[in-house]
Amino acid sequence: MGDFLEQFFVLVGLLVCLAYLVKFMRFCRCIFLHLWRVSPRSFLKSMGQWAVITGAGDGIGKAYSFELARQGLNVVLISRTLEKLQTIAAEIEWTIGSRVKIIQADFTKDDIYEYIKEKLKGLEIGILVNNVGMLPNLLPSHFLNTSDNIQGVIHCNITSVVKMTQLILKHMESRQKGLILNISTGVARFPWPLYTMYSSSKAFVCTFSKALQAEYKSKGIIIQAIVLSLIPSWVFYSSMFQKAILTHYVKYLKQNTNLR
Ligand SMILES: NC(=O)c1ccc[n+]([C@@H]2O[C@H](COP(=O)([O-])OP(=O)(O)OC[C@H]3O[C@@H](n4cnc5c(N)ncnc54)[C@H](OP(=O)(O)O)[C@@H]3O)[C@@H](O)[C@H]2O)c1
Repeated sequence: MGDFLEQFFVLVGLLVCLAYLVKFMRFCRCIFLHLWRVSPRSFLKSMGQWAVITGAGDGIGKAYSFELARQGLNVVLISRTLEKLQTIAAEIEWTIGSRVKIIQADFTKDDIYEYIKEKLKGLEIGILVNNVGMLPNLLPSHFLNTSDNIQGVIHCNITSVVKMTQLILKHMESRQKGLILNISTGVARFPWPLYTMYSSSKAFVCTFSKALQAEYKSKGIIIQAIVLSLIPSWVFYSSMFQKAILTHYVKYLKQNTNLR
């Protein structure tokens, strides 16, 4: 029995070492690919002249807009607030020199796609960044207590990805190249109670991207889900959030585990 246990633990130890060795090798591969710039600087530009970014007025979408412009693409910025779009467009045109088109649209609605299609007509779109997304409740909340606008959340987080992809993929397919980046989140990887709508809608984005990539890889199109975990630290450190986590989650755990 003693010998068996010893061999068992040696085996477990070896498996753990092997798992970490694989992780280390993957890490080295990333560093290698990054340092040796496997894809040339012209790679993004080679996809097409224009990049379309949804939710481009702020945050991650705004950052993508600037970076893609810096990489030599013209950009189409889509978001709700016209003034923000105009300011960003002026800044990109002035500092980088790329051409910019802006489209004002609210992705919580589902009747905007004909209008967007019209505005995109004639552009050679090489890159689509499906960035727009909304967190229906910042504080943890039960499904029935969250925003009444569930349809809006579905339209913004799911319909936008499907419809924008449908609009643009068609042309990418005929040109046999294109890149679609769908922005998801770390909490899509597992069910996240009290943020059910957000985590499950973002899980859709991951599944949709993987399946679509399998369908269109052979046509020269790259489709990826980007899994971000960039919740600003102030959210975690704010006393309001911590209090909410403590009260809501403790209540939730008590209800679900029958603890007193
Ligand atoms: N920030 C994070 O920590 C984090 C982490 C993981 C994943 N993500 C994901 O990354 C993406 C971008 O996040 P973010 O924090 O950068 O977003 P954000 O700052 O909240 O919003 C970015 C832009 O989206 C636009 N937008 C919001 N709702 C819209 C709507 N219904 N129709 C049209 N435009 C709309 C906003 O436009 P207006 O200002 O004009 O309304 C804003 O310009 C989202 O899909 C999010 O789920 C974010």
